[in-house]
Amino acid sequence: MLVGSQQKLQDDIRALVQRHGRTRDALLPILQDLQAKHACVPDFAMQVVADELGLHPAEVYGVVSFYAFLGHEPRGRFVVRLCRTVSCELARTAPVARQLENELGIAFGETTRDGRFSLEWAACLGLCDQGPALLVNDRVYTKVTPERVHAIVEDCRRVFGAHAAQTEPAAHAAQPALAAEGGVTP
Ligand code: FES
Repeated sequence: MLVGSQQKLQDDIRALVQRHGRTRDALLPILQDLQAKHACVPDFAMQVVADELGLHPAEVYGVVSFYAFLGHEPRGRFVVRLCRTVSCELARTAPVARQLENELGIAFGETTRDGRFSLEWAACLGLCDQGPALLVNDRVYTKVTPERVHAIVEDCRRVFGAHAAQTEPAAHAAQPALAAEGGVTP
């Protein structure tokens, strides 16, 4: 990471510490805000957060590793997560997964070259009676079929196109809160 980028990240972290405080309880909100702004929590940031909060870096790394919504590698603007827990598998997740890979041109665990989409597996989303369940950033889709996948991805592309006309395509991250079905936010 370049020195200028490190300085910027350090300044961002100090501002977040000012906002959330220096207690252990502040760790998760700080990491969530970092993820939202930088699309990941890089190793350098984990070290700075640990120093600022007086924690061991391993503790910060452990939290980043534990939560699916956090990560130390940049993700796409739209993070598509398909539940692969048993109830959804029984509701035929496999063809939905294949269609997602075909539609996006990437495998699970990958990000498209243009940085728009990351495709990931998710553990149970709490919608087991409405599977297959899919999460796109903070938006939940239920009873997803291979036929619906194209429309969902097109919806993301449409939102991306409108949003990109107004702002730089800086990386965005997934939000931890779930929202109702019916459209996605970048
Ligand atoms: S098993 Fe998929 S939402 Fe619970």
